[in-house]
Amino acid sequence: MKKINKICCIGAGYVGGPTMSVIAHKCPEIKVTVVDINANRIKAWNDENLDKLPVYEPGLKEIIAETRNKNLFFSTEVDKAIDEAEMIFISVNTPTKTYGKGKGQAADLKFIELCARNIAKVAKDDKIVVEKSTLPVRTAQAIKNILDNTGNHVNFEILSNPEFLAEGTAINDLLHADRVLIGGDETPEGEAAKEALSAIYEHWLPKENILKTNIWSSELSKLVANAFLAQRISSINSISALCEKTDANVQEVSKAIGLDSRIGSKFLNASVGFGGSCFQKDILNLVYIAKSYGLQEVADYWEQVIIMNDYQKSRFANNIISTLYNTVSGKKIVFYGWAFKKDTNDTRESAAIYVADALLEEQAEIVIYDPKVSEERIYADLDYLNTRSEEENRKLVTVVKDPIDASKDAHAIAVLTEWDEFKAYNWETIFKQMLKPAFVFDGRRILDKEKINSIGFNYYRIGENA
Ligand code: UDX
Ligand code: ADP
Repeated sequence: MKKINKICCIGAGYVGGPTMSVIAHKCPEIKVTVVDINANRIKAWNDENLDKLPVYEPGLKEIIAETRNKNLFFSTEVDKAIDEAEMIFISVNTPTKTYGKGKGQAADLKFIELCARNIAKVAKDDKIVVEKSTLPVRTAQAIKNILDNTGNHVNFEILSNPEFLAEGTAINDLLHADRVLIGGDETPEGEAAKEALSAIYEHWLPKENILKTNIWSSELSKLVANAFLAQRISSINSISALCEKTDANVQEVSKAIGLDSRIGSKFLNASVGFGGSCFQKDILNLVYIAKSYGLQEVADYWEQVIIMNDYQKSRFANNIISTLYNTVSGKKIVFYGWAFKKDTNDTRESAAIYVADALLEEQAEIVIYDPKVSEERIYADLDYLNTRSEEENRKLVTVVKDPIDASKDAHAIAVLTEWDEFKAYNWETIFKQMLKPAFVFDGRRILDKEKINSIGFNYYRIGENA
């Protein structure tokens, strides 16, 4: 089996950064270099001040402090790192296509293809190439075609090693992974490559938790795992709508069903809707693949998970509008939270973006506070939708650093992310400062209903009638 001494990871994002930090931490004899074409990102990864790392994850900065510039390096010298490494992870972004065939559904493989071409150009000796990014099925084949046809006649083994970490708990998920999946060719060379990658994970995970499969199974499992998780959220969210119309309480329902060990209790928290870079994209990919094989019923079945999620976001926004006497025009609505979940600064596909957009369409004035998301990011998220001009977004939306101060003269507070600090606020002070009647719309069900009601708020939360 080939012993791996040097690893290169292309893409220093939410997946590449934390994953490589943990590998470097657990494998001190391996030199790990993370490269990116985005020089600002690399600069931030190298920042002396560990609070300025481009990715916020609990536990990450401690690992970086220990490994950086010892056996973990962040660099823009992509070619050099490829040349040196025996194993190359591809961890670049694969957004949903915004143009051409498969627009709105298929993943855009432009960045992956550029990486493959770059590896082919630079490699002078045999390499194991590991696809880490969330990818549509058959990407490994595409990468292999490019490498084999444009390379310098060196041997490339392609592995699929999907990432199952969830943001906000990435370090813990990596350190205590339920399983690691390694897909590859079932040839002697393919098996040897799988063993080489497995040996890295065996530094800290039991061998029996490392599954080896063919490449199709590995790639498809990633999409299916995310589709099943998202489906649970859409299922409970559909029930939350029914609960709001009846006297049922969605939390009681999810507890009651979750205690059935066949169902299980995880991922049954009703919310304003799931976000994040993976769920929607992976389901869209699954839908696209099913359609491309003529399996329309399969495609429709999974598409419904996304339709329900969109419904949940617009239901939340519509409830704010109808409760505020059918008009939010000129009203100040404070958002607590912008990230797609707590403990991350990532905002991709965050429900907050779509709720804000719907309220802005009604001319609301939105004031946003999030403990980790920058003002620049929030405006970029809104501008990206292209619903209105950049000037108008800046006129209607203010981003603030003081959440309590923000409540002055506000008509309503909307909780969009479940950050723990929101529960600890002095809600009496917030109430005193707001216009009356004062409304709270809790899209995450994190506040204490009795306490909030007793202060005098009109309190609405997902999955319960008021
Ligand atoms: C997900 C998968 O969990 C992970 O295995 C995969 O590698 C990447 O995609 P991530 O998107 O980082 O991870 O976060 P996750 O914890 O799954 O949450 C996704 C979204 O669902 C968030 O917006 C979260 O708030 C929401 N959610 C989650 C709910 O609304 N209810 C729940 O019960 C759980
Ligand atoms: P993920 O959540 O999958 O990690 P991110 O968008 O956070 O996605 O990170 C992907 C990173 O990959 C970005 O920093 C981007 O600059 C980088 N990247 C994209 N294409 C290339 C490339 N050809 N070479 C090097 N880095 C790349």
